Amino acid sequence: MPDKQKKEIFNILFVDDEENVLRSLKRLFIDDSNIEVFTALSGKAGLEILKNNDIAVIVSDQRMPEMSGAQFLEKAKRLQPDSVRIVLTGYADVNAAMDAINKGGAFKYITKPWDDNDLMLSVLNSIETYRLKKENRRLSELTKKQNEELKKWNTELEFYVQQHTVELTKQNKELNTLNEKLKTNLKEFITAFSNLIELRDKTVRSHSNTVAALSEGIAEKLGLSKSEVDAITTAAQLHDIGKIGIPDIVLFKNTDELTPDEMEEYTKHPVRGQAAVDPVEELREAGMLIRSHHEWHDGNGFPDRLSGNKIPLGSRIIAIADKLDRLTSGGAGKLSIESALNVVKSLSGIQFDPELYGMLHEVAREKITINVGAADAMEVELRPKDLMPGLIVSRDVMTGTGLLLLRKGMTLNERNIETMKRGYHIDPSKSGIFVWKRIK
Ligand SMILES: [Fe+2]
Ligand SMILES: [Fe+2]
Repeated sequence: MPDKQKKEIFNILFVDDEENVLRSLKRLFIDDSNIEVFTALSGKAGLEILKNNDIAVIVSDQRMPEMSGAQFLEKAKRLQPDSVRIVLTGYADVNAAMDAINKGGAFKYITKPWDDNDLMLSVLNSIETYRLKKENRRLSELTKKQNEELKKWNTELEFYVQQHTVELTKQNKELNTLNEKLKTNLKEFITAFSNLIELRDKTVRSHSNTVAALSEGIAEKLGLSKSEVDAITTAAQLHDIGKIGIPDIVLFKNTDELTPDEMEEYTKHPVRGQAAVDPVEELREAGMLIRSHHEWHDGNGFPDRLSGNKIPLGSRIIAIADKLDRLTSGGAGKLSIESALNVVKSLSGIQFDPELYGMLHEVAREKITINVGAADAMEVELRPKDLMPGLIVSRDVMTGTGLLLLRKGMTLNERNIETMKRGYHIDPSKSGIFVWKRIK
């Protein structure tokens, strides 16, 4: 037994109507400091003691006046069910002892006269039984209490988690909506921003849109991630935004006609473009791509004279797309797509990444906008349901009551097609919708 338990004091109660019997019983345990002995001369007196003290073992004589041992033990059992009960009985009273065992729940009987050692051993064993019973009850109650606590915590936790999940889901939904809205706003802002340059330079109308569509197509064919494709498309849309700072006289000339001073001014536009978008965190990556869109594969470009793979992939894509559109757009005298592709091919490995030509060739026909007035384009009338993104409107489109739906020269996209379809449904146009269509 551990020390702590050894020091535990256990009470035992002897009940006998003979004083000398009680004395000799008490004497047996006089040296045991762990045991305190109570004695009673009758069942009635014994019950009084039981009412006020925790008794581990009760040893009662069977034959007593007024209340027999069996009767006393039966009452004692009700008062203290955990205490171990032993009945003392004469040889002749075995039947009465059985009665005490049955009715009073006595643990055992000891016959008179008893053997001191046997009796002491029986009492000590009974104390151990009592201790184990108590310990067992204590542990069961502790387990029960802990279980209840755990259950309570579990329920609270579940409730908390549930509440938190609902809250998080709600917040997540709100954030997603906000995020989507921000993305849409940013896209609209980018389009508006890129239109600024095209407002000044009529020859580059829809240039940004076309370069963006071509770059997006090439980036997708390369298997780049959605965020990379988005960054490249955005950069392509804004690649010439730095031209806003260039004087008209420089802007409207061909690059090979520029004086050295004008050329110096012109070569600033990629860095100016990067600086213009840099304050917007979401456009910072695109800004890096804008900066390098005039670098050459052989290192003869500007502004940093980067070469080969040192030029960001997005910038290489924009450069090759930009060239194709500049060769094919801008009205009469410009090249057909096939001729323009041949020019780009001849510059592959010099000005452009040779790896990209194949992909440009694949996307050119499906993405490039029709070249207004070019040899491979003609004007056709389409029904609203036949409109496709990328086509250029060749005449102003008015509603039946004369409101302007789409201005001549605008490039169709999913949003303005939808607007046009709705406008057409409410107030059908009398003038029709005319667009440029490729012949070859
Ligand atoms: Fe440029
Ligand atoms: Fe450009």
